[in-house]
Amino acid sequence: PYTTLFRSVDLHVAAADLAAKTKEAAGLTKLNIDKMSTQWLQVIAEGWAAPLTGFMTELQMMSALHFNTIKTEDGGVSNMSVPIVLPCDAAEREAIQGKDITLVYEGKDMAILRAAEVFDAIKEERCARQFGITGDTGHPYIEKVYAYGDFLVGGEIECLNRIRWNDGLDEFRKTPSELQEEFKKLGADTVYAFQLRNPVHNGHALLMQDCYETLVAKGFKKPVLLLHPLGGYTKEDDVPLDVRIQQHKAVLAEKVLDPDRTVLAIWPSPMMYAGPTEVQWHCKGRANAGADYYIVGRDPAGMAHPTEDKDLYLHHHGKQVLQMAPGLDINIIPFRVAAYR
Ligand code: ADX
Repeated sequence: PYTTLFRSVDLHVAAADLAAKTKEAAGLTKLNIDKMSTQWLQVIAEGWAAPLTGFMTELQMMSALHFNTIKTEDGGVSNMSVPIVLPCDAAEREAIQGKDITLVYEGKDMAILRAAEVFDAIKEERCARQFGITGDTGHPYIEKVYAYGDFLVGGEIECLNRIRWNDGLDEFRKTPSELQEEFKKLGADTVYAFQLRNPVHNGHALLMQDCYETLVAKGFKKPVLLLHPLGGYTKEDDVPLDVRIQQHKAVLAEKVLDPDRTVLAIWPSPMMYAGPTEVQWHCKGRANAGADYYIVGRDPAGMAHPTEDKDLYLHHHGKQVLQMAPGLDINIIPFRVAAYR
């Protein structure tokens, strides 16, 4: 059941140490980080990327890029299909290499990063492996990768405070441990997760309802749905998060999805639009919150090809790849195209 798969990683500084660590952070060399890097910091700090306990080192990034996994302490592998990396430029590299540093967002000390390891961002090679395309194509996340400095900073993280966005939606941003509490409160005997970055449409609803029936047929008494919209960076023409949350609330209020067996929460990860590579990350994050089942359908994490008149990824590859993915402790429930009703 969901509780046995759950492994908690929480990289927030303990309350008893907060004053000392805050003081230490104030005296360290600073590195300013942007909104998207702060979203990744939240992902790491809350344990979504466990067993990762910091921004990736060069070895971890190479392992992710080449094998879609990182090593675990017991010598096994855990799925990790995307690089979770922190960019910097050449001048910052000089200032921080090898040091304990403080990550600063909008003037606020957010976290200490220990023993900064600065390495080459290998932008072209990274994009070729992660996205299957490279260069100046107009792909939204590749544009971000190219706009950043030429280096990456790896190191263990100690997060000073819970990351809050003060946009009226923080109550929906629940950590894996907080979600465990929600699942227990609803009396779940199994949990199935649904990633989405769009409003719930009838096709989505069908997948979730069908998954519920499947789990009941397996003998579960109270399958609980984790309705888990992605809340980090999305491209400009995607529907904004606040609108999506309003829509998801309406879908629950109208009982298209049963509120007595659904937990609506926001997942802090940015969107990368990396198709079959990214869907593994979407699934892995939810496995780290203790979900037992993960729904995958047509063209997950896909988008239109940035320069050609077709979609970037073949629609069936996401679910094919996910079902073969190494190092994932979760059951995959694949669906074909769901027709609109
Ligand atoms: S995604 O970027 O988060 O994958 P989206 O919000 O559109 O995009 O989709 C969420 C999930 O629903 C994914 O698993 C996707 O495969 C699935 N999905 C979306 N539309 C359909 C559809 N018409 N038929 C089957 N699956 C779908």
